[in-house]
Amino acid sequence: MFGRVKPLDAILATAEKKSLHRSLGAFQLTMLGVGAIIGTGIFVLTAEAAQKAGPGMMLSFVIAGLVCAVAALCYAEMASMVPVSGSAYTYSYAVMGELLAWMVGWALVLEYAVAAGAVSVGWSGYFVGLLREYLGIGLPQEIVNANALIAHIKLAFGATPSTELSTALEVGGYINLPAFVIALLVTWLLVIGTKESAFVNAVLVVVKITALTAFVVLAVPVMNSANFEPFAPLGFGGISAAAASIFFAYVGFDAVSTAAEETKNPQRNMPIGLIGSLAICTVFYLLVAAGVIGTVGAQPVFDAAGNGIAPGNSTAMAAACANIANEAVVCSKEALAWTLREIGWQQVGNLVGLAAGLALPSVVLMMMFGQTRIFFVMSRDGLLPEKLSRIHPKYHTPHVVTIITGVFVALFAALFPVGALADISNSGTLFAFAMVAIAVMVLRKTDPNRVRPFRTPAVMVVAPLAILGCLYLFFSLDWYTLSLFVGWAVLGLIIYFTYSRNHSHVGRGVVEVHEDDDDIPPSSVPPMPGV
Ligand code: ALA
Repeated sequence: MFGRVKPLDAILATAEKKSLHRSLGAFQLTMLGVGAIIGTGIFVLTAEAAQKAGPGMMLSFVIAGLVCAVAALCYAEMASMVPVSGSAYTYSYAVMGELLAWMVGWALVLEYAVAAGAVSVGWSGYFVGLLREYLGIGLPQEIVNANALIAHIKLAFGATPSTELSTALEVGGYINLPAFVIALLVTWLLVIGTKESAFVNAVLVVVKITALTAFVVLAVPVMNSANFEPFAPLGFGGISAAAASIFFAYVGFDAVSTAAEETKNPQRNMPIGLIGSLAICTVFYLLVAAGVIGTVGAQPVFDAAGNGIAPGNSTAMAAACANIANEAVVCSKEALAWTLREIGWQQVGNLVGLAAGLALPSVVLMMMFGQTRIFFVMSRDGLLPEKLSRIHPKYHTPHVVTIITGVFVALFAALFPVGALADISNSGTLFAFAMVAIAVMVLRKTDPNRVRPFRTPAVMVVAPLAILGCLYLFFSLDWYTLSLFVGWAVLGLIIYFTYSRNHSHVGRGVVEVHEDDDDIPPSSVPPMPGV
């Protein structure tokens, strides 16, 4: 089972055939990273982190950033050594065998598809705010969340009626329509072969950085230190839980490592790009978090019994926020714009909202693109039906897999709250990152002489730290998220043993190497979005 390994040499022969032009320097890599990283995490989930940790979310941002930094260094070694499509899935196939590779690929569905759903919901919050502020249109609750629908479902499944549920029925909605529509729109763009150009990426990076800078410049000078007290109203447990959620804000740096084969002097530039983009984002995130806490306060809301409410529990949050007329950042779906409006910068708040509204769809596009690429590679390996990798005759894109992915992403986005989706996505990402760190160590032992364009520094310290960090954040997620992860993994195992194992090309003795063959649509294996 573990012996079904896809030979690394076969994979590498592919990469050599491809031999993309090495054109990216440290600066471009850093821009690529920042473009992929800054998104819903900072613009929206800051409010969720505050609900979990209070002002202590500052520490949560630091913890999540450190775990990402060590994981990124491991990712970079694999990416520069095995620079082919499929990222963590492909590395695992080469090093740890088919079953684990399948599990990693299956977990990456959470990382990419569910994250695309989360970012769509994040975008929806800002879109609703923009309509209200610029056009005076207030979308009805019925079409901006699905809290009432979920409350109906809970009651139908026998949940005890409660104040929370009845509030959700009263003030909640049935579908998050803007999130649903943006996810379908991005799907359509991917089907017709849209790729984000380096130019668009650069423009959006500037837009995002400008928005965050404006926020910091206006908020930080008017901070009040009293707002930092009590620092950890829900204890260190709250800080860990917020770190596990806000980890989402850093995801995306894998875009840098997957551009390894187009990088000039990867040994130097790869770590600069990875650590540089993570460092820039961390500095911005800390300043933004401080700005939110110091100006409007970041104390969580409590339920009637005085207990902190898990932000994933949208029903309870809706009830508590209704009680205080939504006058707290933790109740806002557009945390940064809300904060600026609250401290008297109405127009700048609207512009920050506009920046998020413009920039977040590109993060949805990158995530969904990543998902279709993983599915494509898995189906080409025979682990998923080959029909999925069928190419559109006109657009030359893997339209079947793109449409299936898009429909699911749109449904997630339509029904679930952003925090719950981000947490589920994090569970899959943390699993995949830990597996990559393990793969790096295993390969150093089993194949020490292989050429490594980038070597993880002090690998026997950094890789175990990455594994421990991922485990720590993984187990800081709430039990609901963890049980969904386990359910997803069990479903994956069932599919593997009933379908994939029997259809696997490697299992049937076929080792295919066709990374640049005709059966791959040109648009399905571009360098990387943003390159
Ligand atoms: N880091 C990305 C975001 O926050 C996924 O949207």
